[in-house]
Amino acid sequence: MTDITPQDVVKTYRRYAPIYDFLFGAVLGPGRERMTEFVATLAPRTLLEVGVGTGLTLPRYPSQARIVGIDLSEDMLARAREQADALPDHDISLHAMDAENLEFEDGSFDCIAVPYVLSVTPNPDRLVSELRRVCKPGGHIVIVNHFSGGRFWWALEKMVKSISDRIGFRSEFDYERHILQHDWSVEQALSVNLFGLSKLVVIRNDSRAP
Ligand SMILES: C[S@@+](CC[C@H](N)C(=O)[O-])C[C@H]1O[C@@H](n2cnc3c(N)ncnc32)[C@H](O)[C@@H]1O
Repeated sequence: MTDITPQDVVKTYRRYAPIYDFLFGAVLGPGRERMTEFVATLAPRTLLEVGVGTGLTLPRYPSQARIVGIDLSEDMLARAREQADALPDHDISLHAMDAENLEFEDGSFDCIAVPYVLSVTPNPDRLVSELRRVCKPGGHIVIVNHFSGGRFWWALEKMVKSISDRIGFRSEFDYERHILQHDWSVEQALSVNLFGLSKLVVIRNDSRAP
């Protein structure tokens, strides 16, 4: 698997920040919309978005929720802060923080949203373990990401594999390994985005073990 460091993430998104919304706003938009629609049905009182990026999801979250967004990249967060400032009816706080080392108490959030972050964080297992720690037992973790395996992805993976190091992105990312292997309950998984390129995965933060 491609080795990515926290420094790589900061460097990559420093480059992307000015053009991120143009490059990835619309194309990954349907997945964000399905995710935020689902989050709204849960009516969470406390909501954490990890890897909040430029804040594209923020206007779509329920205004009743206390929303916390974190990201490693100050350059991306600067844009998210502009989004948040334009939403005076929302309770949003944004912080520079590593999702693999969250500065929150255990069980702090009813719901955690993870849009397009799991395959770009340095250590996805450590991220999952932190998500599970700060999510309330029985709360929801909602992930949107690409996963290997679709016919279209197979062709795309081959194309981008050689440049994936440079673009800070793992083109091969296995659903079984990174979702099903964990001891949590996958409640829903649906294909989203053009050609079903990504999956929206709804997880309950509990244990399958008896
Ligand atoms: C592909 S962008 C997704 C941004 C946004 N969630 C969206 O829907 O477009 C990935 C974001 O995750 C952030 N990120 C990656 N690894 C992270 C980590 N370990 N902790 C916090 N943020 C991280 C990056 O800085 C970047 O802003």
